[in-house]
Amino acid sequence: MLHNRRKIVWFLLVFLVALLVLPMILATTSYFDPMPKSPIPPLDALYLDSTQPIAARVADLVSYMTLEEKIGQMTLIEKNSIKQPDDIAAYGLGALLSGSGAKPAENTASGWKQMTDTFQAEAAKSRLGIPLLYGSDAIHGHAHVPEATIFPHMIGLGAAGNPELVTEVARITADELLTTGVNWNFAPNLDTPQDIRWGRVYETFSDDPELVATLGAAYLRGLQNYQEGEGILVLATPKHFVGLGGMGWGTSQNKDFQIDQGVTPADESLLNEVYLPPFAAAVDAGALSIMVGLNTWGEKRTVRQKELLTDVLKKELQFKGFIVSDWYGVHEGTRSTFLATVAAINAGVDMVMLPFDYETFIRHMKWANRLGLISDERIDDAVRRILYAKFTLGLFDTRVSSEALAPNQTRQHQALARSAVAQSLVLLKNDRGTLPLQRTDIKIRVAGSAADNVGKQMGAWSIEWQGIDGNWPPNSTSILAGIKEVAGPTTQVEFNQQGAFSTDTPKADIGIAVVGESPYAEGWGDNARPSLSDEDLATINNLQQVSETVIVILVTGRPLIITDDIDGWDSVIVAWLPGTEGAGVADVLFGKQPFTGTLPLPWPASIAQLPISPSGETSDGTTPLFARYFGL
Ligand code: BGC
Repeated sequence: MLHNRRKIVWFLLVFLVALLVLPMILATTSYFDPMPKSPIPPLDALYLDSTQPIAARVADLVSYMTLEEKIGQMTLIEKNSIKQPDDIAAYGLGALLSGSGAKPAENTASGWKQMTDTFQAEAAKSRLGIPLLYGSDAIHGHAHVPEATIFPHMIGLGAAGNPELVTEVARITADELLTTGVNWNFAPNLDTPQDIRWGRVYETFSDDPELVATLGAAYLRGLQNYQEGEGILVLATPKHFVGLGGMGWGTSQNKDFQIDQGVTPADESLLNEVYLPPFAAAVDAGALSIMVGLNTWGEKRTVRQKELLTDVLKKELQFKGFIVSDWYGVHEGTRSTFLATVAAINAGVDMVMLPFDYETFIRHMKWANRLGLISDERIDDAVRRILYAKFTLGLFDTRVSSEALAPNQTRQHQALARSAVAQSLVLLKNDRGTLPLQRTDIKIRVAGSAADNVGKQMGAWSIEWQGIDGNWPPNSTSILAGIKEVAGPTTQVEFNQQGAFSTDTPKADIGIAVVGESPYAEGWGDNARPSLSDEDLATINNLQQVSETVIVILVTGRPLIITDDIDGWDSVIVAWLPGTEGAGVADVLFGKQPFTGTLPLPWPASIAQLPISPSGETSDGTTPLFARYFGL
């Protein structure tokens, strides 16, 4: 009897184990033949016919796809992680990206075009020949390419507050991306920052959800430039869904950071009032891909929250496009990459920015599907959304290929960027009525660490992820060079970085100190007290000894704590991170353009005031140094 019972227990155990393990074994064997056995589409398949409605083309293409091909489409890989070029076709990969800094061997526009063409040629060899999405962070122009026009970072465009300008900036960015074969941009950033200590404030337009919504939609119109019958130019990616900018200091889940990748304490009503409206506006403006952030909301990482991704974004806001996760975002901080994949896909993530290990991801997806943990329907839904974006982009149809930009186009782009710089400047103080400057017969002394340093004025996500130091790329203009260019011929301009001019010569009429932050990106810019360095303060002091009046120009990605110093300064201008066209600063200094910019977020007087609530209340109840939308 006992013997029999044991037998039964053993039998049940073996049966259970077989039930669990067999599909896993099968997933790695020929049962899931990498060479698909699905129907072969005819040469005149409907999905290849550009006159057919997109929904019909998507349905047709999906009907030919194997499970492997569908999973391939959900896979986004950093281009340097491709083990061998053949893998693109072998796994039917859906998308590649150049993570910031991942440039071609020859970093020129034609080097980029050659690189993306080579990848597309590999994708064309796959059974169904589905083209790749190729993504990049062209967040202020196609700024990793030295020939590109590099615009002010978003915070400057927020200060300019001009939707038409933002649309033009985005349209030019699309033009420059297309010349390099990049069809997908991880922009615009729709985060709303409440704490200037966060290292990503400059990537955002403002802390005012209404302004973010307006400018975000304007950016989408320019970048995607949707035309009936012609689809869109470049796929935009509003990011980061959702609640970014509201994370608390010290809550980061990344041991190297403080705020970035932290926890957003917002309750549901704050989420609805502050963080969701910019994304709702982006969906209305035609967004077809949205990136989930690396933050945590409540108890869970956003990337695993079905209520947010599926119920709110896809159902309530009726988002028709696909949700892409952020860099390693699905797997960050987890013990089981398998379970993390299952959770994110079921929450609503459609494409995973792995960005490294595609083989494991593809294997896990197959197991999860065979074990019934991820349904066929969920996979089909994800693939349909991705293909919908690809068809809308016109990737399957012959499009006029973009040629390198003609020099006069480049000049037009630079002129627009220069005007964007002028519109973004905010005048905080002009006590002695010094500004605007006259262009004749004056002596100007210029100093400061950011006066003759294009690297500093571009900030990060420019050439390199963390930015560069020095006067490069070649066709850029530093603020000093701009001042020299715009000042009249009878104006004398002298430069000394430390402001160490001789005290034996007569004082200059005007001293201009251009000081501010060095570039930083993401959590590496989390900073307990954003302020000017001692060196910068010494430079201003030096300049005051040798000039009648001093103008301080702040080159910065965020408001700095200047409360103790500002009383001693005559005039103060915030230039944000203006990009390559430094002459835009001089245009306003010398009155060729008026000051029109206003602060896109409150300027705190102290760290104790942080965070500042979306309605403008400081944490300690005191008044900020300057309120949001201040500007003389
Ligand atoms: C950032 C995203 C960016 C992605 C791809 C991540 O680290 O959070 O904003 O789009 O990298 O470069």
